[in-house]
Amino acid sequence: MPVRPPLRLAAFVMDTVSHIQHGLWRHPEARQHEFDDVRMWIDLAKTLERGRFDTLFFADVVGLYGPADGDYTVNAREGLQVPNADPSILAAALATHTEHLGLAFTSSVLQAHPFEFARRVSTLDHLSRGRIGWNIVTSALDGAARNFGHDRLEEHDERYAWAQEYVDVVAKLWEGSWDDDAFRADKAAGVVSDASGIHRIDHVGQRYRVAGPHLSKPSPQRTPVLFQAGSSPAGRAFAARNAEAQFILTSTREKTAELIASTRADVAAAGRLPEDLLFFLGLTFVIGSTEEEARRRSAEIDELLSPDGFLLHSNLGYDPETGAALDPDTPLSQVKTQLGQSHLQWLREASPDREPTIRDLAGLSAKLRARVVGTPEQIADELEQWQDIGVDGINVMNWWLPGSYEEFVDHVVPTLQDRGLVQREYAEGTLRRKLFGHDQLPDRHPARRWRGAFS
Ligand SMILES: Cc1cc2nc3c(=O)[nH]c(=O)nc-3n(C[C@H](O)[C@H](O)[C@H](O)COP(=O)(O)O)c2cc1C
Repeated sequence: MPVRPPLRLAAFVMDTVSHIQHGLWRHPEARQHEFDDVRMWIDLAKTLERGRFDTLFFADVVGLYGPADGDYTVNAREGLQVPNADPSILAAALATHTEHLGLAFTSSVLQAHPFEFARRVSTLDHLSRGRIGWNIVTSALDGAARNFGHDRLEEHDERYAWAQEYVDVVAKLWEGSWDDDAFRADKAAGVVSDASGIHRIDHVGQRYRVAGPHLSKPSPQRTPVLFQAGSSPAGRAFAARNAEAQFILTSTREKTAELIASTRADVAAAGRLPEDLLFFLGLTFVIGSTEEEARRRSAEIDELLSPDGFLLHSNLGYDPETGAALDPDTPLSQVKTQLGQSHLQWLREASPDREPTIRDLAGLSAKLRARVVGTPEQIADELEQWQDIGVDGINVMNWWLPGSYEEFVDHVVPTLQDRGLVQREYAEGTLRRKLFGHDQLPDRHPARRWRGAFS
């Protein structure tokens, strides 16, 4: 039998109280309302390293869910992604308490100027000795656009065009601005850096004008590992060109296999190797020592779920033009939304018998497809099946922090390791080396064309 490559594990979290599983923060063991206490995160990061997780992956938003001018009673009451804190700053703290764990965080093209962002990421990549990942998002919330001087979001595909220019600017700074040997620290010669190896990028584009040079010297990975989520045609094209890891949502195995195969074909068409993009599937686990126990625990979780929270998170319960609440019996096909198309598609697929309505949403979002309920052996069986259709890693969503990961690490990881499904030890080196065997982007990645381009 061929040896399986290890499935990669990411822990999907957010520096806030209620990230995905709304209502669960009320569980007696849940501690995510202490998200401002760095000690909780340090403990969690250490637990993940004990379980040989590849990366801790922070979601982030820079605006409220719901209509831009809307009421935010539910956001506040449910702790739905607010209050929150900046994950890039938290990543700095966690870098000093961990050795191997990748630290990936989300940052929208909306929120930070690319020059500032490039320097922040280079600083973090130095600090962590090459363990930073960046989840590139465009923001799907009008409220976020309002916070950065825009009246509303740009249209869906235009947001990806914006993201492409943003990636070009930061890649010019990371890849092209400094030669490898420009920083000399030569005391005898009295030379810190050699100016002939440091280049302006003189970027002039539709949205940005950035002269450079980059103010950081090259970090271990130069460009952080590039993550992306979003599977619309524009999202896929963006991923095929730029991303090294893509977060995908569950669907049927056939549809997931199709999505992976066709995106890999797009990656190859972009001049890269199909295996240059890893697919991480979002799943959440309810673990029991028997199947019956797992089912009982799953039912207990259902009792805590907040329908209001799921409806708000779906961003679908209102008319995006007027902000008015929609009739709960409106079919999803009639809902105009700026929400990610992959999410909408997922909701439809989760309800194959009939077109779901807004009223169905809470149940569907929390639904069983992304939820794996069973013993560690049953969970391992299920993960093997996902791996067989091309999934490279699992984006493990939690019910509550830090307990969901402690359970997973203590009860599921050993079974997965016994089957050779996940790694027992870390490889040495940067996050990219652990995932792909090399520290920096390979020559075939489009961002590498900036190397030497400004000499
Ligand atoms: C697993 C997953 C995680 C995501 N995390 C974030 C996030 O933290 N912040 C954010 O603004 N958008 C996030 N998104 C939204 C995506 O970046 C993207 O905007 C969305 O999926 C729409 O893309 P599409 O229309 O190409 O499908 C996430 C999406 C997925 C599937």
